[in-house]
Amino acid sequence: MARMTILDRFRLDGQIALVTGAARGLGWEMAQALAEAGARVILHGRTNAAILPRAAELANRGLAADTIGFDVSDATAVERAMDALLARHSRIDILLNNVGERDRRSAQQVAPEDFDRLVSVDLGAVYRLIKRVMPAMIERRHGRIISVTSIVDQLAANGSPSYTAAKGGLAALTRALAAELGQHNVTCNAISPGFFATETNQALTLGDSGTQRARRVPLNRWGQPSEIAGAALLLASPAGSYINGHTLVVDGGISATYDML
Ligand SMILES: NC(=O)c1ccc[n+]([C@@H]2O[C@H](COP(=O)([O-])OP(=O)(O)OC[C@H]3O[C@@H](n4cnc5c(N)ncnc54)[C@H](OP(=O)(O)O)[C@@H]3O)[C@@H](O)[C@H]2O)c1
Repeated sequence: MARMTILDRFRLDGQIALVTGAARGLGWEMAQALAEAGARVILHGRTNAAILPRAAELANRGLAADTIGFDVSDATAVERAMDALLARHSRIDILLNNVGERDRRSAQQVAPEDFDRLVSVDLGAVYRLIKRVMPAMIERRHGRIISVTSIVDQLAANGSPSYTAAKGGLAALTRALAAELGQHNVTCNAISPGFFATETNQALTLGDSGTQRARRVPLNRWGQPSEIAGAALLLASPAGSYINGHTLVVDGGISATYDML
C-alpha cells in the first residue's frame, strides 16, 4: 500500500464536522476549509434559514454540507436541535466551537446578570455541545474537539471582564477535557485568534485605532479571516493527531511581544 503523504494527512474524507457560528467571519472560513479537505460539514447558524445560503454556496462548489439552527443561549433549543442532528448523522467526528459573543464594557458597567449570560454563551453552551457529541466519540475512539478562544485567554485588556473570563475558562476547559478524553483517542484543543478583520470588527479596523492595533502586531497588520483556516484544519485532521490540550495562538505575534506603541 502506498505511504500516506503529509498532504494526505490533512484530508478529512468521511469525517463529519459541526462548526458553530458558521454564517460569517472566522466560522465560515474554517467551515469552508474543513469542507474543502473532504469533510461533510454541518453549518450552524442562529436559525436554519440564516445558514441555508452558506450551505448552498458549498453545494454549488460540489462540497458536502448540512445545516442546523439554534441560539446557543437557549438550552432547550440546543438540546432539541442536537437530538434531531444526532438522529440524522448518529455521530460528529469534529466539533468546532466557534460561536462567541463579545461585551467590551468595563466591570463598572457589566451587571452580574450580563456577566452570567455572556459566560453561558461563550463557555456554558460549548460544554453543553461537547456533552452531546462526546459519547459517540468515546465509543468510536475517535474525535476532535476544537474551541475558539481569544488572546484574552491569557492577556487582558482594559474592559471586557466577562469575555475575558469566559475565554480564559474555555482554554482551561480545553485542557481539562484533553486530560480526560485523551485516553479515548479524543483530542481537545483551542485556537486563540488575535485581531482579525471580520465583518463584526470592521469598525475597529478603521481610522487611527485600526492603525494603532495593526502596529501592535509584529506582522504590522490585521489578520484576514481566511488566515485562521489552516490552524483549524491542522487540529481537525490526522496531521494533528498528537496535538492535545494545546491552545494554538494565531495572532501575528502579539502575544509573543510587549512592545509599546
Ligand atoms: N474576529 C476576531 O478578531 C476574534 C478575535 C479573538 C477571538 N475571536 C473569536 O472567534 C470567534 C468568531 O469570531 P468572529 O469575529 O468571526 O465572530 P462573528 O463575525 O461575530 O461571528 C460569530 C458567529 O456566531 C454566531 N452567534 C453569535 N451568538 C450566537 C448565539 N447566541 N447563538 C447562535 N449563534 C450565535 C453569529 O451569528 P449571527 O450571524 O446570527 O450573529 C455569527 O455567525 C468568536 O468566538 C470570537 O470570540 C475573534
